[in-house]
Amino acid sequence: MIDYTPHQPTPHHHAPQPTLPEQPTDAKREPTLSIIVPTRNEAGNVFPLLTRIEAAKSELPRVEVIYVDDSDDETPSVIKRASSQFPFDIKLIERPPERRNGLGKAVVEGMRVAESDWICVMDGDLQHPPEVIPQLLAKAQEDGATLVAASRLTEGGGTEGLSLFRKLVSYGLALFSRLAFPKRLKKVTDPLTGFFLVRRDRLDPDKLQPEGFKILLEVLIRSPKIEVAEVPFEFGERVNGESKASTREAMLLFKQMLRLGLQSQRHLLRFIGVGVTGLLINTALLALFTEGLAIYYLLSAILATQGSTLWNFAWTEKWVYHDRRQDQRYFVNRLVSYFAINNGALLLRGPLLALLVSFLGVNYLFANILSLLAMTALRFVISDKLIWRESGSLKPAGRIDPMLTISSLVSKK
Ligand code: GDD
Ligand code: MN
Repeated sequence: MIDYTPHQPTPHHHAPQPTLPEQPTDAKREPTLSIIVPTRNEAGNVFPLLTRIEAAKSELPRVEVIYVDDSDDETPSVIKRASSQFPFDIKLIERPPERRNGLGKAVVEGMRVAESDWICVMDGDLQHPPEVIPQLLAKAQEDGATLVAASRLTEGGGTEGLSLFRKLVSYGLALFSRLAFPKRLKKVTDPLTGFFLVRRDRLDPDKLQPEGFKILLEVLIRSPKIEVAEVPFEFGERVNGESKASTREAMLLFKQMLRLGLQSQRHLLRFIGVGVTGLLINTALLALFTEGLAIYYLLSAILATQGSTLWNFAWTEKWVYHDRRQDQRYFVNRLVSYFAINNGALLLRGPLLALLVSFLGVNYLFANILSLLAMTALRFVISDKLIWRESGSLKPAGRIDPMLTISSLVSKK
């Protein structure tokens, strides 16, 4: 029995990984699996779950089970008792009341101590049948996936274990989150399932801040190099203990999605913010040149645009895209391109306005707003996809460690 209750996050997952040294003896090492089971008051489910994991053991690689427990009942003592009775390592993280910060964060604590190549996250109440774990591994092998989600909502899956109300909530929330993150969740029918397999080297526990229950959503959206696959499963009925789901959990989900949404749209939001300040600067300069310096207003407008463009450029370069590392050699290219699209957008606005008002009969005030929006969208797309585009070479692709392929383990019967 290992009572592993860290108070400090273990640093070894985030230490920069040197390229793999040649270790011919290690090359045949079998991959391993850490099963993370968050629990709160599941005393009656500990032995049944471990027994079923043991029964599936012949189809699994070397296993450790990590319980992350926030219980007020005797669950931890049952886990301690069980630990000597099963042929695999059982770790227990017992979180004192002041460290109990929800299911998702409990799973992240488990990820920090997991030592295996693959991590499986599952509920401790048998609603996630352990017999599905070998299928998750097999799917990872077949598809070369780095994350396999067990889905209740895909063909062959099911939610028989849920009440009608919970079923509706599950479908609704899954649909909502897929609309919110269409790209990331394209291949994920059940982004809220609590049952999945993921390669440990694809996770950065420091980056995961799940609110409440929805750890998978957090993993999918925050981990860049993940290839997803799914396996259907039938969500079982809870026999012992009680569900901890609540409306509070649903509210936490919305909070989390809002945060993830803001985070993923941060470039656009900042771009708009800069655009608004640029508009104010432009207006101020126009007034200054026209009234103060008595410059003809059309010439003033051109000058004011150059001033606000310079202002916008500086903020876009230093703030909007500060997280996309840019090659300093191409600074001038960016400056020139930015001035070109801003002035180009200005020139385009005239014909666009004429088109909207004269040909399509749009009210001129509304047309003005439309043309401004269209130009902002155009400027954003060009800035985001061209001028300050993500330079692929600077972000190293996750290293694929051949040792961690699971081809050998699934066939091991
Ligand atoms: N450590 C810890 N801390 N574990 C918790 C906590 C907590 O605060 N709250 C719940 N758990 C544990 C439970 O003991 C159980 O093992 C697992 O997390 C799932 O909790 P349940 O209370 O059984 O949730 P559920 O069955 O209603 O919800 C299931 O469906 C959701 C989607 O509809 C779970 O699979 C969720 O993960 C899933 O998102
Ligand atoms: Mn449950």
